[in-house]
Amino acid sequence: MRYDFDKPVDRRNTNSFKWDIPERHMGCGDVLGMWTADMDFQSPAPMLDVLRKRLDHGVLGYTIRGQRYYEIIQDWLKRRYGWTLEKEAIHFCPPGVIPAVCMLIEVLTKPGDAVFAFMPNYDSLYGAAESMGRRLVTAPLRCKQQGPLRCADWKMDLQAFEQAVVEQDIHLALFCSPHNPVGRVWTEEELQAFADVCRRHGVFVISDEVHCDIVREGVRHIPMGSVPGMGERSATLMSPNKSFNVAGLMTASVLIPNREVMAAFRKKLSAWAMTLDTVFGTLAVEELYSDPACEEWLDQVNAYLSANLAYAADYIDNSIPGISTYVPQGTYLLWLDFSQTPLRGGALCEYLVKRCGLDLCDGREFDPSRDDHMRLNCACTRATLEEAMRRLKKGMDAL
Ligand SMILES: Cc1ncc(COP(=O)(O)O)c(C=O)c1O
Repeated sequence: MRYDFDKPVDRRNTNSFKWDIPERHMGCGDVLGMWTADMDFQSPAPMLDVLRKRLDHGVLGYTIRGQRYYEIIQDWLKRRYGWTLEKEAIHFCPPGVIPAVCMLIEVLTKPGDAVFAFMPNYDSLYGAAESMGRRLVTAPLRCKQQGPLRCADWKMDLQAFEQAVVEQDIHLALFCSPHNPVGRVWTEEELQAFADVCRRHGVFVISDEVHCDIVREGVRHIPMGSVPGMGERSATLMSPNKSFNVAGLMTASVLIPNREVMAAFRKKLSAWAMTLDTVFGTLAVEELYSDPACEEWLDQVNAYLSANLAYAADYIDNSIPGISTYVPQGTYLLWLDFSQTPLRGGALCEYLVKRCGLDLCDGREFDPSRDDHMRLNCACTRATLEEAMRRLKKGMDAL
């Protein structure tokens, strides 16, 4: 079956976080929602059928996960990532990946402890350290300063990481893989080098891998828990939310081979009375991870997204002086550098919304010092993306 990602779906007035936040667009007229990370596409038809059928049953009471749920996740991890996990290492966290991160921070550290994250980084991920009353310690991701940038030019500063670990007594690191917003998919060598530092100094890693299934052709994502020696010292968080565009179903998998940490995590979930699942979330995970037609949808959406990203990066490079970018190895997000324009921070955001009709993510969310960057979500129809490029060019030409 061929899925049609060119088909427009009007998401306005559906309580969409991306399209329907009135205060972001107050008095701005027609604005394209290109910020938060979900896609404008309908999810795979076989999954929608399964949910419809369940709805027709008509009784939507308290819901548990059966044996099949765990087996399907085990098969998915084995098939897609060559990672064999026992059932006991798999848990769920219905509200999503970040609530699981918060609970794990509570399980693994005490108030006031240092928690590490590379910057820039996904705001809710590094923000979880401080929102849980911990001390955030950071080191930079570095890239070259001259000439056109490729995604692979972004590197972890492992020396700065190790120095911070030693000097700040760090025992927990928050890791983003594939990385949001720079789009890196870390290689085996890079993961191993990061893991070596963690092993040397007793650092446990919470690895947010929510974007793991969205990668360019030929790029391989490696789960942190599958890196040699890291199974016992990491929690890997995955979810079909990004992969199949089901973030509204709020379902995430928490993968913790370390039995002690898993037991403490379960206890925390129990304390918060998070023991039951959502009716549709469970069914969606089972269908999405097991039906080959859904995996085919994932392959096709990956191809569509890669073409969108290549188109937008090429358009920006060739037709919009002042902005520079590159095709990310993973995710559907473009990290845009506006440093050659006179716009910064709030003025940049306001210009893009009010003058261009484009709602992008403010770079400062990912790193307070990045007032000259914005993040553009390309998971939309090609027609919407083309319109966004026209608006961006017109706005930049008028500067
Ligand atoms: C890196 C990263 N982690 C976590 C999330 C949120 O995940 P969830 O769908 O579980 O709320 C996002 C959403 O944009 C994200 O980009």
